[in-house]
Amino acid sequence: MQGVARNFFTLAVIYALFGMALGLHMAISQDHGQMPTHAHIMVAGWLMSSVFAFFYHLFPAVGQKKLAVVHFWLSAISGIGLMIGLFVLLSGNPAIEPVLGIASMAFYAGMLLFAVIALPAVWKA
Ligand code: HEM
Ligand code: HEM
Repeated sequence: MQGVARNFFTLAVIYALFGMALGLHMAISQDHGQMPTHAHIMVAGWLMSSVFAFFYHLFPAVGQKKLAVVHFWLSAISGIGLMIGLFVLLSGNPAIEPVLGIASMAFYAGMLLFAVIALPAVWKA
């Protein structure tokens, strides 16, 4: 694995470590207040980044495109912003909502970009 695929895989493992630690913290403290944060770190973070990693691993030529690098950074920055924003919001800080809104829309834009990158590649193959 290399390039964008390896970057996404590394990001995925980092999400898993943080998300599972948060899950353990919730279980031990019996305070499930951060459940949406944990759920999004695990599925939108760990699982989605892993899917992106294996996609670029299967289609190495696509992973070498500049657009794939843009996809990685857009997903990474907006995704981390989304997860931290959710954590801050659910810790009782509603003032973070505008940041969370921007991060969510940027994360969605990352998925749109992935559609533009990935669908032509799979239909051509
Ligand atoms: C160390 C391992 C883990 C621990 C201790 C843990 C703990 C928890 C806890 C305490 C909840 C809240 C349950 C509730 O209040 O109903 C939860 C929910 C959730 N967890 Fe985990 N979790 C772990 C791993 C994972 C993994 C690996 C994934 C996915 C890849 C995951 C995905 C989710 C999801 C999606 C929810 C929300 C479920 C719902 O909407 O009802 N968790 N987890
Ligand atoms: C644009 C980014 C996203 C936004 C703004 C968003 C927003 C939300 C909201 C508002 C909820 C309800 C939370 C609640 O009732 O407490 C939710 C739940 C959930 N979302 Fe997302 N979501 C996003 C992306 C995703 C993605 C990409 C995935 C999976 C790959 C995902 C998986 C889930 C799951 C498993 C739940 C149920 C867990 C829970 O209730 O906390 N979300 N999401």
